[in-house]
Amino acid sequence: MKSLLLVANFKSNKTVSEAKTWLGEFSEDFSPGPEKEIIICPSFTALSALSERNQAIKLGAQDISPFPEGAYTGEVNNMQIKEFADYVLIGHSERRENFNEDENLLKKKVEEALKVELKVIFCVQDKEQNIPQGVEIIAYEPVSAIGTGNPATPENAQMVSSELKKKVPGAVVLYGGSVTPENIRDFTQKPDIHGVLVGGASLDAKEFAKIARGA
Ligand code: PGA
Repeated sequence: MKSLLLVANFKSNKTVSEAKTWLGEFSEDFSPGPEKEIIICPSFTALSALSERNQAIKLGAQDISPFPEGAYTGEVNNMQIKEFADYVLIGHSERRENFNEDENLLKKKVEEALKVELKVIFCVQDKEQNIPQGVEIIAYEPVSAIGTGNPATPENAQMVSSELKKKVPGAVVLYGGSVTPENIRDFTQKPDIHGVLVGGASLDAKEFAKIARGA
């Protein structure tokens, strides 16, 4: 059986105490194992608190500074993230759209992440997008599927995942966009889809535990 990465992206949601409650509830309902790795991406503010809790659950940051440490007000750099997390999301469509993140900036972010051996989950919205050197995990997230309740078809997700694997040999490809407990298996049973990136349905711990069990 292939091993799966099941990633929860809380986006700009949850206080520290809400994130801790979530982790407590989720841990009661699901225990990760080698076949299903769980990665939680909370806001920066919750990374420290969550890192002290369930060691079996991995953490990811939702963003990273494109610069090293220094005079970059408001930014969180690679080493600050590495203190608490193993993964980082880069290239999410919400950052490309709302914060004008372009290919050049995303490349710098990837370089910063790789310097400290953070594992990059690089989001692309279609199979043509540029993928910076060194990326080993790619999340295919068509914009029309994000937060809309209108997922890609599993056939489309499989087709794009297989193209992405050809483009970046050895890469692990995830699917993201309106994943739910009801449709998770349709995606994870496809041969080239090695997990999912979940937004809305990850905010409820019980719901995300159902996704993890069903994957
Ligand atoms: P969604 O978001 O599950 O709410 O569609 C996915 C994502 O943006 O990563």
